[in-house]
Amino acid sequence: MFNKELVRKFINRKTPFYYYDLELLDRTLESVKKYGQDKGYHIHFALKANNNDRILKNILAAGLGADCVSGKEIEKAIEIGFQPGQIAFAGVGKTDEEIEIGLEHDIFSFNCESVQEVELLNRLASVHNKTARIALRINPNIKAKTHKYIATGAEENKFGILVKELPELADKIRRFENLELTGIHFHIGSQIEDLNSFDALCNKINQLQSMFDEKEIRLQHINVGGGFGIDYSDPDENAIPDFKTYFQTFDKNLKLRDNQKLHFELGRSIVGQCGSLISKVLFIKEGYHTRFAVVDAGMTELIRPALYQAKHQINHLDNLNPSSDEILLYDVVGPICETSDTFRTGYPMPELRRGDLVAIRSCGAYGQVMSSDYNLRERAKVFYSDDFE
Ligand code: LLP
Repeated sequence: MFNKELVRKFINRKTPFYYYDLELLDRTLESVKKYGQDKGYHIHFALKANNNDRILKNILAAGLGADCVSGKEIEKAIEIGFQPGQIAFAGVGKTDEEIEIGLEHDIFSFNCESVQEVELLNRLASVHNKTARIALRINPNIKAKTHKYIATGAEENKFGILVKELPELADKIRRFENLELTGIHFHIGSQIEDLNSFDALCNKINQLQSMFDEKEIRLQHINVGGGFGIDYSDPDENAIPDFKTYFQTFDKNLKLRDNQKLHFELGRSIVGQCGSLISKVLFIKEGYHTRFAVVDAGMTELIRPALYQAKHQINHLDNLNPSSDEILLYDVVGPICETSDTFRTGYPMPELRRGDLVAIRSCGAYGQVMSSDYNLRERAKVFYSDDFE
């Protein structure tokens, strides 16, 4: 991804900065099209993973819809050009104002997460003289294999409506004049690499569909959420996730009814590998038992290691000081006054010196969007591959 010529062009830029490889993004989108959209699946991009305009425009151009979790994300999606009829709106705590934004734009679906939310939506839709299309987000009680902070489908998680609440709620919705129940929605977690979790989800959905059949409720769509993981340990070898196998999992296991549409909400798997955080080594210092490389990016630019103990690959961009062949172990740390501001510990790298550039990889999802100005730090700039052509 980083050849010498490109790295040379990085040298005079102020670090840290985000770098997006738009060509890789487009190749990833082609794969989503080939194995997903061309099979008739509707893929929404989860804006929460990345809401950068350039990225969103490429995603829109590839024909994906949007998955939003706030009123502002709905407005952003519309500003970029996504059709309201392609926007799903999820979230366990939607405010009245946010619901009204969705109503005003007549979005594809409100994915409702509680009985109270359904009731509120009916009331607000009636006030505004609208009929809202809704999908019930169901908590399927499936424990996906992932970090506990990003598992969302298990019984202890705050997300979704309980299975036991469904029959009564479905009857209630029939009586609501301003709601149309069009689908059911699930999202069991993020960074899921073991596809067995999705097999389990499909089996659960098959069971639940029977309940709706018995009630003679025809669901126009099933939304299985997102969550497909990426390879953080080898972003070059596996730059494009194996969408073929991922989509096949649903094709094989899910029993869709006639004309029922299958929707996905993918975030990380689409944008994760196209982003890197480029940073400069400020200091090398010895610890009692370790060697620190203090870099100028911190948890303010990429909070994933601090929050989820995520391990991003770090490449030495051998720029100013061609390094020796010697491999040394580093704790690569940021400048923020927190011990959690650590990207890697005991990480083998060619010898680093002050001024060297490093690339922290696989930062395209939940990187820039989760950055902050903690310590009153300046927001990192952003560059795209075509800025350097
Ligand atoms: N749909 C819903 C309802 C979601 O909550 C999420 C992500 C997605 C779709 C997209 O999931 P993806 O395909 O990106 O896995 N900040 C964390 C990840 C949080 C995910 C939140 N929900 C991280 O950096 O790992």
